[in-house]
Amino acid sequence: MKFDVKDVALAAGGKKRIEWADRDMPVLQLVRERFAKERPLRGLRMSACLHVTAETANLARTLKAGGADLVLVASNPLSTQDDVAAALSTEYGVPTFAIKGEDNATYYRHLKAGLEHEPNITMDDGADLVWALHKERPDLAKNMIASMEETTTGVIRLRSMEQHGALKIPVIAVNDADTKHLFDNRYGTGQSTLDGIIRATDLLLAGKKIVIAGYGWCGRGCATRARGMGGIVIVTEINPLRALEATMDGFLVMPMKDAAKQGDLFITVTGDINVVRGEHFAKMKDGAVVCNSGHFNVEIDIPALEKMSRKIRKGVRNFVDEYIQPDGRRIYLLGEGRLINLAAAEGHPASVMDMSFATQALSTEYAAKNRGKLKVQVLPVPLVIDEWVAKLKLKSMGISIDKLTAEQTKYLSSHDMGT
Ligand code: ADE
Repeated sequence: MKFDVKDVALAAGGKKRIEWADRDMPVLQLVRERFAKERPLRGLRMSACLHVTAETANLARTLKAGGADLVLVASNPLSTQDDVAAALSTEYGVPTFAIKGEDNATYYRHLKAGLEHEPNITMDDGADLVWALHKERPDLAKNMIASMEETTTGVIRLRSMEQHGALKIPVIAVNDADTKHLFDNRYGTGQSTLDGIIRATDLLLAGKKIVIAGYGWCGRGCATRARGMGGIVIVTEINPLRALEATMDGFLVMPMKDAAKQGDLFITVTGDINVVRGEHFAKMKDGAVVCNSGHFNVEIDIPALEKMSRKIRKGVRNFVDEYIQPDGRRIYLLGEGRLINLAAAEGHPASVMDMSFATQALSTEYAAKNRGKLKVQVLPVPLVIDEWVAKLKLKSMGISIDKLTAEQTKYLSSHDMGT
């Protein structure tokens, strides 16, 4: 199969969307222009397993401009923009295997297409492709230069592989770069999660009790934006430092068992399993809305919700299913528990993906230049890449900053001057 998309006739609309996103991706544009001249990825086969969005399309164009022979596969069954997948396959020469709403069998068939491309470099959002490579095609590991990982959940998974001695290829933790998680996870997830919830439900957030499970960078972003919309925000955490930070940031902090009784809207962003479960659904108010913006659809215990419900009405609105309880209470689950920002909205805005994806492209170039020299470990993004992306992002925003004077530089490197 050359590519697998919903409908090639959607390509013209997809192209417009890709071009619109590109306007807001100036740093990635600079990388693309240089890549087109220098071709640092020439001769390399690449498979990327990412959310197939307009922003990803601009990353794909950049990798292709750099000379990569690239295929793209979906990293989530519900996050694909079908028009973008069509445009990539037919207009930009990037065979794409992704259909919004694909079932699990199709999802895994698409992943397999990524392996059948026999890549030298992979790019993952959640580590499914690297995991499949290790499980199904370990023979490919010897041809692999490295894999880039886009998300916290993927990095956690890959570190676990490393700790268990299972990792066979070098991995660059793009998520852990400052230009990624401080902006994409915080401002991107914060805005796009609320966008997804509002598009799905048309809820007024002002005055609502909004429970955010998890106070990592994504949770911080969601909590801050929810407060900005007038919500009364409750944070749940398992980490005492983060719970303290949430408290001092001015949020209410309590265990989920207490929050469950109060919340109008629940958002999970923990990266862990069954954070909202049967015992919590049992306490929720009539009309409570529950959704997830963490990577996998495991944070909400949907099987428990199904089991305890008297009746389930699927699709009461797009991306909204109604679960009626034996006592008549209705609980609304959004986007089948999958990332609501990509299921019901368009994911993070292009301006923030600009930084994440410039960092992805430059990390890929770094890996290609260091072929054979990278350790089989989860590795950091080189600091120079972070600094370059931050500088150019500021420049593109028309912001200049101060420089240290010679006296200040000297002061910072000396220890003689005290009180
Ligand atoms: N992850 C979150 N938002 C995204 C977007 N717009 N494109 C690709 N991956 C994303």
